[in-house]
Amino acid sequence: MKKVGVAILGLGVVGGGTYKILTDKKEFFKKTQGVDVTVEAVLEKYVERADALGIGKDKVASSIEEVCSNPAVDIVVEVIGGVEPAKTFVLKALMSGKTVVTSNKELFAKHWPELEEKARKMNVGLFFEASCVGGVPIIRTLIDGMQANDIKSIKGIINGTTNYILTKMALEGSTYEEALKEAQRLGYAEFNPTADVEGFDATYKLSILSSLAFNTKIAIENVHREGITSITKEDIAYGKELGYTIKLLAVGKNTDKGIEVRVHPAYVPNGNPLATVNDSFNAVHLVGDSVGEIMLYGRGAGALPTGSAIVSDVIFAAKHQTYYYTYFKNNEKGVKETNFTDDFTSQYFIRLSVKDLKGVLSKISGVLAKNNISIKEAKQVAEKEGVVPMVIVTHECAESSVNKALEKIKATAGVISVDSVIRIED
Ligand code: HSE
Repeated sequence: MKKVGVAILGLGVVGGGTYKILTDKKEFFKKTQGVDVTVEAVLEKYVERADALGIGKDKVASSIEEVCSNPAVDIVVEVIGGVEPAKTFVLKALMSGKTVVTSNKELFAKHWPELEEKARKMNVGLFFEASCVGGVPIIRTLIDGMQANDIKSIKGIINGTTNYILTKMALEGSTYEEALKEAQRLGYAEFNPTADVEGFDATYKLSILSSLAFNTKIAIENVHREGITSITKEDIAYGKELGYTIKLLAVGKNTDKGIEVRVHPAYVPNGNPLATVNDSFNAVHLVGDSVGEIMLYGRGAGALPTGSAIVSDVIFAAKHQTYYYTYFKNNEKGVKETNFTDDFTSQYFIRLSVKDLKGVLSKISGVLAKNNISIKEAKQVAEKEGVVPMVIVTHECAESSVNKALEKIKATAGVISVDSVIRIED
């Protein structure tokens, strides 16, 4: 039976989950996979984490060099997160001939070509299933299951923290601040929640997923990013009335105008399966020209779900002698040979506050018509203290037209403010 030695760099939530699966299921993997996997070393600066997992002192390495020179280690699992020291450690492991398995989306989104070049040079594997959508096997689906397809779109909820916050706001009427506090209490959101709530985490993941979907390196700079911090209770309430649920969506499309990649809050019609993905769950919807639609759903974070993705890479690496590498023609910046567009088309929800004056609505609809925007639905709510809330839903139109129209609308007499502009994605 093939014997494989693993080192785990970082014993946080995911490292702990990975250690637990690899040790608890050692006999199961021998029986079902024909591989005997042993954790030979760990590298963790907080020794109490190793103690808590029952890892003997003899297995706790004191440096990355010690891990890299350990002949019993074939595969190095990097679950530290962030760019440094993870990048240095991964490069050292690759250069010493170890295959690397990582869950590190930021490192991968920022330095993928450089890491891959080293892996190719050393003829070792570089696996990253756990970098996107936790336990959901989206990377292998894209690499190994979709070869027959020219992928037209990838759309999903790929950040669990923001999905938890938005679900709480929608189902319990919480404010953004209350929902964030609860997410922090439950350990979903970090003390500094910026990476999740401002859409960076989803941007890293979309950059990786859309690169695989569209066979071209898509840099994070190419991804349009908006977070959820400006979503209000009113936005949620209006969405409910109109039959929409707000989600932080990651969208990649290969259109005639070019590739568009964006992360932003969007109204999803309640009949769309993505609208029913709640709490910290994730889901990804793909459209391929041969297979049609596919949807994957599951836990996007957590010790055992993300550990499941790591272990699947460890076992894959243990069972395969040849590794897959990507064949992107473009370079690290990802822009030269790829045609991107940021003139998205979508339906738009526009919420305004206006004065109750004759002709305001007709002036607004005139500006929209002049900019080639057709109104699907318009609604005026009862006046309160001289202010009339007004809601307009457009048919599909170009974002550039909406931006031009909004400039004019803001300067229209009787318009007090444009309070929300939210894309509607079906
Ligand atoms: N912070 C991420 C999320 C989990 O909330 O989805 C790991 O990517």
